[in-house]
Amino acid sequence: MASLDLIGASEKFRALLDNIDMLAPVDSAVLIQGETGTGKEVIARAIHEASARRKNRFVALNCAAIPGALLESELFGYEKGAFTGAVAQTLGRFQAADRGTMFLDEIGDLPLELQPKLLRALQEKQFERLGGGHTLHVDVRVIAATNQDLESMVEERKFRADLYYRLNVFPMTLPPLRERLEDIPLLAEHFVQKFAKQQGKVIDTIPDEVMTALEDYDWPGNIRELQNVIECGVIMTTGPLLSRQTTERLKPSVTTRVHIPVMGEPVSIKTLADAERAHITATLRETNWVIGGPRGAAAQLGLPRTSLIARMQRLGISNGTSRRRSGQSTRPFVRVMGSGLSPHLRDDSAADLRVLEAAG
Ligand SMILES: Nc1ncnc2c1ncn2[C@@H]1O[C@H](COP(=O)(O)OP(=O)(O)O)[C@@H](O)[C@H]1O
Ligand SMILES: [Mg+2]
Repeated sequence: MASLDLIGASEKFRALLDNIDMLAPVDSAVLIQGETGTGKEVIARAIHEASARRKNRFVALNCAAIPGALLESELFGYEKGAFTGAVAQTLGRFQAADRGTMFLDEIGDLPLELQPKLLRALQEKQFERLGGGHTLHVDVRVIAATNQDLESMVEERKFRADLYYRLNVFPMTLPPLRERLEDIPLLAEHFVQKFAKQQGKVIDTIPDEVMTALEDYDWPGNIRELQNVIECGVIMTTGPLLSRQTTERLKPSVTTRVHIPVMGEPVSIKTLADAERAHITATLRETNWVIGGPRGAAAQLGLPRTSLIARMQRLGISNGTSRRRSGQSTRPFVRVMGSGLSPHLRDDSAADLRVLEAAG
């Protein structure tokens, strides 16, 4: 089995790891929702690898990548002669995943007409190959994933409610990277090491300005995009310092990032969660980040203290210190201050003055 890299230390990420532990010993269906690149497939694999099913296969099928007409035979297999070109009996992915785990990616793209057959396979653990009368029995754990809002699709009758409930026994929502900023430095360091090793380079330092740019960017493509940016950066690097060109093309977000409002500074708000985050943050600033007590933010917002703390965690609100690198990494990594230094200082020997922090 390929080893799985699961990097992260934020509260949200740890909650995911707890879920993996909890889900591994049971066979229940899991529905993983989250934006593209947030790690849905790695989490599904981690659940499989942590379960007794790891001795058998993890079979992934991306419902969006296969034309609707071919999906049925891909999932359930076909008998010889089932259609023109079916020259031999072929096993479907369901059978290949017997006693293992089936990962159905982009489940929102599963054609409506195929949904009852999948439901039956899930519920009764049986199905027939295309063109065959013989019923096959399988024991497959299904983990499905989507970046669409399946619940709305159900309301709009684009996805069957019965299948939705069957898949959604245990829902998991993966947070976008911009909501777990503490994980960015760890992931960046991990990917630098990974690609440096692949490319036969030794890189031990991420310049501070590069890290800041990584932290200030919105990451619509999430971890996948971060990984690609770092890979490209490692290609451009010649010495032990990750090239400053790595983040040159990244524009700090102007539309989607909610800046912590500073006295009347306009805040860009798109979603209800943005509005909630901005309101809570503004109140916290007023109370100097005091949460409990009669003058605390919880009282002002009319919430119990614990509910406010839970909301702050959910919305990724902290009093700013977590924006910076926390030094939790155990990798021998250093960051150097680079931005804003006058050119003559920049040309000085980097190591002595500018080492800001040595992790580990
Ligand atoms: N926690 C993590 N630590 C390290 N790499 C990760 C993590 N989560 C995702 N990745 C990497 O990011 C990329 C995208 O992950 P993937 O699971 O394919 O996302 P999704 O299925 O949500 O689009 C993959 O290369 C994966 O290995
Ligand atoms: Mg995916």
